[in-house]
Amino acid sequence: MERIQSALAKARSARDRKLQSTNPASAAGGGPWPDLAEIRPDLKLLARNRIVALNPGHAAASFDVMRTNLLRTLRANSWTRVAITSPTPGCGKSTVALNLAFSIARLTDKKVLLVELDLRRPSLLSVLGQPNDQQFAARLAEGRLDMAQVKRIGPNLALALSGSGVSSPAELLSAPRTADLIDELEAVLRPDVVLFDMSPMLVSDDALAYLDQVDCALMVAAAEETTVAEVEKCGADLAKRTQVLGVVLNKCRYMEDEESRAYAE
Ligand SMILES: Nc1ncnc2c1ncn2[C@@H]1O[C@H](COP(=O)(O)OP(=O)(O)O)[C@@H](O)[C@H]1O
Ligand SMILES: [Mg+2]
Repeated sequence: MERIQSALAKARSARDRKLQSTNPASAAGGGPWPDLAEIRPDLKLLARNRIVALNPGHAAASFDVMRTNLLRTLRANSWTRVAITSPTPGCGKSTVALNLAFSIARLTDKKVLLVELDLRRPSLLSVLGQPNDQQFAARLAEGRLDMAQVKRIGPNLALALSGSGVSSPAELLSAPRTADLIDELEAVLRPDVVLFDMSPMLVSDDALAYLDQVDCALMVAAAEETTVAEVEKCGADLAKRTQVLGVVLNKCRYMEDEESRAYAE
């Protein structure tokens, strides 16, 4: 276990050195963000797709609490990269990832990059009501970082999305070249937070293949769907590779109003 931890620390410090040595211009604040093509999703469609954290308010409150806790942990550990995964498909990873991204992006001094890496079931373009023609992952598979595939919503949220998957996600995600290209993307954009919308842990080894590249992970579980055994297995598998920040219990049908507000205050 200690050996794994020290190998992880070594890999991360190598990555940090690389990040610090690149692109001082964007670190200074300007950088390439204004050049990213902007997309303007339809707000009604977003609401229908349960993306509720664009604006502050009651619906966004639980994501804002999650954001505050997450940012505190990232800052305390000098981390930037967060994997969002779940035991099985459909628990709400993409919904949580996008809401959390919007919540962070509302802070004027924070930039957030959301990278879609659930390459068997990419969904973010359709949630955002965008055409399926973005192919960030396919370009990675070709061995190149294509900034034309990276879009922006507002000044603080960048998205690297894919309309369709790739033929061998686990191979792509474990390739050193992929790690290098995503390092390069982070070095170019210098976001405060990078969220990775990953595959579920218990149905393939796709997410596992990329976990060495992240600092920590959030697990999304679906109330009344995910079993305790699935949470335990997923948590144990994650803990072998990264720091597990906690479990987000999603799809709760019965949540006392008082309860959710009390936590937010
Ligand atoms: N809190 C929630 N309550 C009800 N439905 C939800 C909730 N969160 C997500 N969903 C719905 O569940 C489905 C799967 O969510 P999604 O975020 O795509 O899951 P995943 O990315 O884990 O596969 C979507 O139709 C989404 O709108
Ligand atoms: Mg998803």
